[in-house]
Amino acid sequence: MAEKVIPKTMGQQFGRRSWAEPWKIKMVEPINLPKPERLQAAIQEAGYNTFLLKSEDVYIDLLTDSGTSAMSDRQWAGLMLGDEAYAGSVNFYHLEEAVQTYYGYQYVVPTHQGRGAEHLLSKAAIQPGQFVLGNMYFTTTRLHQELAGGVFADVIIDAAHDPENEHPFKGNVDLDKVQAVIDRAGAANIAYISLAGTVNMAGGQPVSMANVKALRELCDRYGIKIYLDATRMAENSLFIQEREAGYAGKSIAEILKEFCSYTDGAWMSAKKDNLVNIGGWLAVNDAEVFDLARNLVVVYEGLHTYGGMAGRDMEALAIGITEMVQDDHIRARVGQVRYLGDLLTYWDIPIVKPVGGHAIFLDAKRIYPHLPQNQFPAQALAASLYLDSGIRSMERGIVSAGRDPETGDHRYPELELVRLTIPRRVYTQAHMDVVAEAVKAVYDARASAVGLKMVYEPKYLRFFQARFEPMP
Ligand code: F0G
Repeated sequence: MAEKVIPKTMGQQFGRRSWAEPWKIKMVEPINLPKPERLQAAIQEAGYNTFLLKSEDVYIDLLTDSGTSAMSDRQWAGLMLGDEAYAGSVNFYHLEEAVQTYYGYQYVVPTHQGRGAEHLLSKAAIQPGQFVLGNMYFTTTRLHQELAGGVFADVIIDAAHDPENEHPFKGNVDLDKVQAVIDRAGAANIAYISLAGTVNMAGGQPVSMANVKALRELCDRYGIKIYLDATRMAENSLFIQEREAGYAGKSIAEILKEFCSYTDGAWMSAKKDNLVNIGGWLAVNDAEVFDLARNLVVVYEGLHTYGGMAGRDMEALAIGITEMVQDDHIRARVGQVRYLGDLLTYWDIPIVKPVGGHAIFLDAKRIYPHLPQNQFPAQALAASLYLDSGIRSMERGIVSAGRDPETGDHRYPELELVRLTIPRRVYTQAHMDVVAEAVKAVYDARASAVGLKMVYEPKYLRFFQARFEPMP
């Protein structure tokens, strides 16, 4: 008689009770896996850049968690309540109230998305030649800071640059590095601290409450402002709840508000944590910065009560904020990312550890050790994953890092990664299994991988539109 196969639930396999998402699916969007010949043609047409693929050629889309969330039935209902008045839309006041309630800042300026807010803040708060100190860079953030005349300096702890270091708060700021810039350049030459929670480019790594508190104390001594990239702060709050002493009994909403209270303001890509497909905002406590930003918003975005969003978008966004802070939502969201990470770790596939909040980052340097960094190993790995299974991921390495504005040479970041970014409330555990198996297949075939050469390079944010060809 054949031996009885005992299926195990995922919880059993990982030695815990299973959990499930706090929602059920009401509407579905069909997806399909293109044939292998089409995958081959599509990646060639796209110049081996996953940003240039058509989404109809993609099976499981892990390019980004930005604007790709599924909205709730309440948010969709909110769209019907759009007040499309040019000025003073009721939906703006709902948004303003949600930001004040959950983030705690006084003044709110709406923008079309995160980089709109980055643009306004950079223009309002940076004098040409001043330093901006950040816990690692983000592509659009640093570019706006540089375009405003700022000089970016990285002050993240060294552990963040090491994919194998298991520090629980790898997004933390190294206060000694901040002090060193103050000593060297003088506090007056520092525009502000650009603090991100979580840190996208480091692997979605969190900042601890102790770290932001200590940073506040240091900055208060010198009168330096701290502005927060709050794009994924709800996820950051979960890590504080799980890992930091004294926070296990606090809600995500309480932790978020306390964290923000140590900062002077924040900008937001609402396309992430806030659970909408488009939108952003800037919020500050300083009346002067607010005045400047509110003046600039009418030049670049739209009137100060819509900032590039439709009234209905602002309503969905205000509701998204209330859903974002629900503990069971954020636990399921990060739990799904961790599930994928657990599978890949179990199979010994090199990924950034610990697993962060929004994505799994494959370590291309360790997966393709035979490819030098100027042959774009992460770009090549993302293309291989697409060719295997129609799964779209994103390069976060030398291509994303761009060129040094002084020398014109490539920047060579320590981290050469491929990001598998999980959209919120979109894919199921079965999709994660398919992704894990595809990564394993590509990993098993790693010895035959070849590098790429860049055949077209745009001037700004080159990773979006650059084109490549396989090395002969
Ligand atoms: N800050 C962070 C940390 C981000 O991840 C992003 C966008 C932005 C700012 C800019 O916001 O796209 O609304 O203009 N990140 C996306 C990503 C694009 O895929 O990680 P935006």
